[in-house]
Amino acid sequence: MDLTIRNAKLQDIGFVLSGIREIFKIENDIFVYNEKKKLVSNAIRDKHIRVVMKGGRSVGFLWFRISDLTPFGLDYGKWSRKYCWISFVYAVKSYRNQGIGSLLYDDIMRICKKRRVKQIMLDVFTVNKKSASFHKKRGFKPLLSIYRKTL
Ligand SMILES: CC(C)(COP(=O)(O)OP(=O)(O)OC[C@H]1O[C@@H](n2cnc3c(N)ncnc32)[C@H](O)[C@@H]1OP(=O)(O)O)[C@@H](O)C(=O)NCCC(=O)NCCS
Repeated sequence: MDLTIRNAKLQDIGFVLSGIREIFKIENDIFVYNEKKKLVSNAIRDKHIRVVMKGGRSVGFLWFRISDLTPFGLDYGKWSRKYCWISFVYAVKSYRNQGIGSLLYDDIMRICKKRRVKQIMLDVFTVNKKSASFHKKRGFKPLLSIYRKTL
């Protein structure tokens, strides 16, 4: 398939936001457009979003960050090593199961290798069964669970 991959550009903001909106829907989370818009444009500026193109159309993206700060939303402080935190990975619904997600992971693994990053992390929401099976098949293992009680 004629898939290519590149850094996101400012013109991709709408595409990335619509993908994140869909992910939030899957994960029953609240999507605040203006909040996310600023974060997306900063991530694009910092080259933290990779976009897959097919025949001139954006069909998927992966948002990552390489850092030595601990993830999980809890401040455990700094680690002695760098890791790559994946915020979002997304393929347009009608283009799923055609290798876009796999290509995004091949790409991020190449970036990690180049930058000597030894671990990739991401959160998987319990409701998102597809994401869990997709990542498990690619060698990811559950590390911790975050419990929530709504008051
Ligand atoms: C998770 C997600 C990104 C996977 O993207 P994808 O492009 O469908 O991923 P792939 O096509 O590489 O792989 C999916 C399946 O298609 C199969 N596949 C890959 N290339 C294929 C091809 N050319 N022909 C047929 N099947 C193919 C793979 O074997 C894979 O099956 P597996 O997961 O059982 O191993 C996608 O389902 C998605 O966007 N979900 C909604 C967003 C989301 O929940 N994101 C995760 C939380 S941030």
